[in-house]
Amino acid sequence: MSILVTGGAGYIGSHTVVELLNRGEEVVIVDNFCNSKPVMLERIKEITNKDFKFYEADILDKNKLDAIFEENPDIELVIHFAALKAVGESTKKPLEYYYNNVTGSIVLLETMKKHNCKKIIFSSSATVYGNPKEPRITEEFPTTRPTNPYGTTKLMIEEILEDVYSADNEWSIALLRYFNPIGAHKSGKIGENPNGIPNNLMPYIAQVAYGKLDHLNVFGNDYDTVDGTGVRDYIHVVDLAKGHIKAIDKLRENKGVLIYNLGTGHPYSVLEIVNAFEKANNIKIKYEIAPRRPGDIAICYADPSKAERELGWKAEYGIEEMCKDSWTYTQNELSGRL
Ligand code: NAD
Ligand code: WQD
Repeated sequence: MSILVTGGAGYIGSHTVVELLNRGEEVVIVDNFCNSKPVMLERIKEITNKDFKFYEADILDKNKLDAIFEENPDIELVIHFAALKAVGESTKKPLEYYYNNVTGSIVLLETMKKHNCKKIIFSSSATVYGNPKEPRITEEFPTTRPTNPYGTTKLMIEEILEDVYSADNEWSIALLRYFNPIGAHKSGKIGENPNGIPNNLMPYIAQVAYGKLDHLNVFGNDYDTVDGTGVRDYIHVVDLAKGHIKAIDKLRENKGVLIYNLGTGHPYSVLEIVNAFEKANNIKIKYEIAPRRPGDIAICYADPSKAERELGWKAEYGIEEMCKDSWTYTQNELSGRL
């Protein structure tokens, strides 16, 4: 049996493929490299000493996707990472985001159905909780329409998957709601290397540390939080990847729509992250306080106890390792050493 990974050359996908190969799963990757590079696939092979099948394809290409399932009749489950994910860009290009993420998911689901493959793990996001009434979020919290098209695609796909299950109870579906993935593989060979100026905090800090960017803009210091800056739940990408492995085991034994928060449960403010990065890597980060970023909320962190109870999964890495591993990878990547 094999596992199809859409978006497997990307940041979270590549780390998950490493974990899949390490535990002996057969892997088939589909990616169109719209936000990743072929070299990531080579690095996965270097890290694991294992091979996998790869198809350069767009999940919107129904015929190609169909051919992939024809050629690999043993695909038992899909982990669906492929999506566009830049929040700011999605407000400028909403149709592109709805088409790629929502239509792409529909094409994938239709093809899975045609080939009687009814197990899927979907990369969702804490953004589906909107601005929650309490900061520590359980899966019971209501979802609300996010403030940007990217987030809305995540909620729409969750709802489509709920309907798919209602229509056919043979499906096994996991909605994994990620909090803020950071860090990189210990090898320093794979990690997050965004195109252009990073939108997210950790890659931005790492590029300031490297000297590629002058300083970090801290978006607001007047929130009702420990030091006025935004508070989030940062999770090491390898812990996140391992959460997918646990979800596979769960879906092999259960039908239904299973929803899990993947976070550590530990809240950190922007300035706490800056301090942790400085301490872990012994390097100064220049920052300036800037206005709040539109659409940001003050605090959001996971109650991850359901995943621990039902999946036997718990994040293991702390903030120091997240900061160290992000920095190691960023130096390797930006210096061209890899
Ligand atoms: P990423 O951009 O690094 O990876 C996505 C991969 O999908 C890329 O390799 C890209 O080339 C590929 N892709 C995109 N559209 C495609 C298409 N139509 N056909 C084929 N391949 C396509 O992003 P990531 O950070 O690894 O995120 C993976 C998933 O997790 C996404 O669905 C994202 O929305 C979700 N997510 C990410 C975060 C985060 O902070 N990184 C948080 C919550 C959820
Ligand atoms: C974290 C904190 C910022 C950059 C986003 C998406 C979410 C999910 C994860 C994909 C906030 C502050 C940031 C900077 C800053 N993505 N910040 N200066 O906004 O929690 O979540 O990524 O699914 O859907 O919305 O993550 O890393 O952008 O911000 O001060 O240059 O860092 O205000 O408090 P966010 P982030």
